[in-house]
Amino acid sequence: MNRPVRVAPSLLSADFTRLEDSVRAAERAGADLLHLDVMDGRFVPNISFGPVVVEAVNRVATLPLDVHLMIEEPIRYVDAFADAGADYLTVHVEACEDVAATLEAVRDRGMRPGITLRPGTPFSDLEPYLATVDLVLVMTVEPGFGGQAYLSGQEAKLLRARDLQSASGFDYVIEVDGGIGPETAPSAVAAGAEILVAGSALFGADDLAGLIRDFHALGGARTR
Ligand code: DX5
Ligand code: ZN
Repeated sequence: MNRPVRVAPSLLSADFTRLEDSVRAAERAGADLLHLDVMDGRFVPNISFGPVVVEAVNRVATLPLDVHLMIEEPIRYVDAFADAGADYLTVHVEACEDVAATLEAVRDRGMRPGITLRPGTPFSDLEPYLATVDLVLVMTVEPGFGGQAYLSGQEAKLLRARDLQSASGFDYVIEVDGGIGPETAPSAVAAGAEILVAGSALFGADDLAGLIRDFHALGGARTR
């Protein structure tokens, strides 16, 4: 049976000249979290925004901020994102010299630690850290850009995350990010995704609320 599905619009696909309007539109339409993609031009080829923009979003948002760091050595910026108002702070396993220390620093600053991996990284690289995270993010595109095609080959990682979650009693939620839309969301949810991140599909939709409702309907009973 499916669990409740939550929806996290990625602001990377919002209109940056009208960020407050995009935040309010997403909130009015029934989103559950706001996903913010931070890119440094080193871990990924693209550069997006940093703590200043997260802090600005935090001033106008009521939903929790789900911050996805695509940056080298994210431990350097844990304090900055805590001060900016991040709720979830997700780091790439490939980007940290000391993953455990990074996750601990996130927790110590009162945020919820998340961990993620590139499509080419084996899920087993995350397994040593699963007991210490609140969120596991499976990337279904190569991180760096919105609007890419969904990589269905990553679903084995969602299934593995779900199997370990129930077998080991781990306390994380399973999130999927990249190429999520009406055609791809059902199989991601069937494989175990509990939070759907979507950028281009949501902000490009004629009916944002309708699409969020359709995503919610893929899950079981709603929690909110
Ligand atoms: C990619 C980002 C995603 C991106 C998703 O590096 O992590 O969050 O914004 O965009 P779509 O939904 O368009 O694939
Ligand atoms: Zn993301």
